[in-house]
Amino acid sequence: MTAELDPVKVMKQEVGKAAAGRVQSGSIVGLGTGSTTAFAIQFLGERLKSGDLKDIKGIPTSFQASVLAKQYGIPLTTLDDVEKIDIAIDGADEVDPNKNLIKGGGAAHTREKLVDCLAEQFIVVVDSSKLVDRLGSTFPLPLEVLPLAITPVMRAVAKLGGKPELRMAIKKDGPVITDQGNMIIDVKFESIDNPAEMEKR
Ligand code: A5P
Repeated sequence: MTAELDPVKVMKQEVGKAAAGRVQSGSIVGLGTGSTTAFAIQFLGERLKSGDLKDIKGIPTSFQASVLAKQYGIPLTTLDDVEKIDIAIDGADEVDPNKNLIKGGGAAHTREKLVDCLAEQFIVVVDSSKLVDRLGSTFPLPLEVLPLAITPVMRAVAKLGGKPELRMAIKKDGPVITDQGNMIIDVKFESIDNPAEMEKR
């Protein structure tokens, strides 16, 4: 199978394009993280270049998003400089039938949640492999944790019935370090019955 015909990649491109198509000129746009949102950022850049879209500014949710935005010619701004975010586009790792999400597969969820929750409109771009009946079925729940709090958080998570694991880096010895300098604990739960309650805890 060639990369061009990979159905998951085609789905990611299509949803990325559709989401980018909903951004209007003059908008402040939250730019999510991950391979699906990368297509949305690319298509936003193409709309700007063609003149179909004008005067947007992006707020990146990660180093990756800011690099892509620069690559595709999307001007950036910060939360200090805007009063509101009109629309945010972001990916997810799991989506349940009530549209609850697991995020953080790319370790960017803290900034993503901050930017996404400030947006008046939030578009989640996923391919069908992300759709699950119950959160936690295929994907552990990622937590971003201050390095000095790793052990107490792991203990607390175990008391909630989760199996915590420190996320280890690839092509770097030791743990994954987030854009904020923190670490990630991936927590496997049997099932997450009440996502809103779990989020609070
Ligand atoms: C980043 O930490 C996640 O929340 C991403 O939004 C998520 O991993 C989606 O990535 P893909 O689009 O690459 O699946």
